[in-house]
Amino acid sequence: MNADARRREYLKALGVDCYRPRGAVAPASASASHVESAVIEPAPPAAQPPPADWESLRARVNACRACTLGSTRTNAVFGVGNPAADLLIVGEAPGAEEDRRGEPFVGRAGQLLDEMLRAIEFTRDDVFIVNMLKCRPPNNRDPLADELAACRGYLEQQIAHVAPRLLLAVGRIAAQALLDVNEPLGRLRGRAHHHDAWAAPVIVTYHPAYLLRTPAQKARSWQDLKQVRRILRES
Ligand code: URA
Repeated sequence: MNADARRREYLKALGVDCYRPRGAVAPASASASHVESAVIEPAPPAAQPPPADWESLRARVNACRACTLGSTRTNAVFGVGNPAADLLIVGEAPGAEEDRRGEPFVGRAGQLLDEMLRAIEFTRDDVFIVNMLKCRPPNNRDPLADELAACRGYLEQQIAHVAPRLLLAVGRIAAQALLDVNEPLGRLRGRAHHHDAWAAPVIVTYHPAYLLRTPAQKARSWQDLKQVRRILRES
């Protein structure tokens, strides 16, 4: 399958209808119609060496007992990807599979996140993926305010080290916590936010777990991803 056909497969998996310019020849696997054939930029340059104290930050996260989740987790989940990425993705908290494997977004929601990234021609090695909480809340309950507060310093240090050009908050919890607001997610998406705490703008989109339950919103998430792509190209 060529790159164009592969991209269309990913977009189809996201529930996005693909269109191509009138008169263009459709690849064998695509159902052609009209308009929209986005030119995709090459992936960002390869990783720079991480800052010297990156590994000590990881060690501090792994040893953290700042809240009670430190004693109920199996593994702390530091984050994964390119520590010099332009795009840093912030989720909520590890789930059962992430807790078991020590890596963020490795369950079904993670597979969809990977597809969403592929749709804008990234892999999880091109971006850096973290969660607001490094440890799993029991029974996947929502993070508590004191847990978010206890973990925030780690996130701040990660963002300072990675120095991304853009933050993408996936889901209400991450968006509200990053931006210190209570607005519903639907009112936060669709525009870039600037918050004094972060050197980079923040874009908000739906959590992939929510998209698995509510596939009708996938088209909106594609709008958000296109905005991510646009900002990274223009900045
Ligand atoms: N949901 C999240 O927000 N983060 C994960 O790592 C997994 C599921």
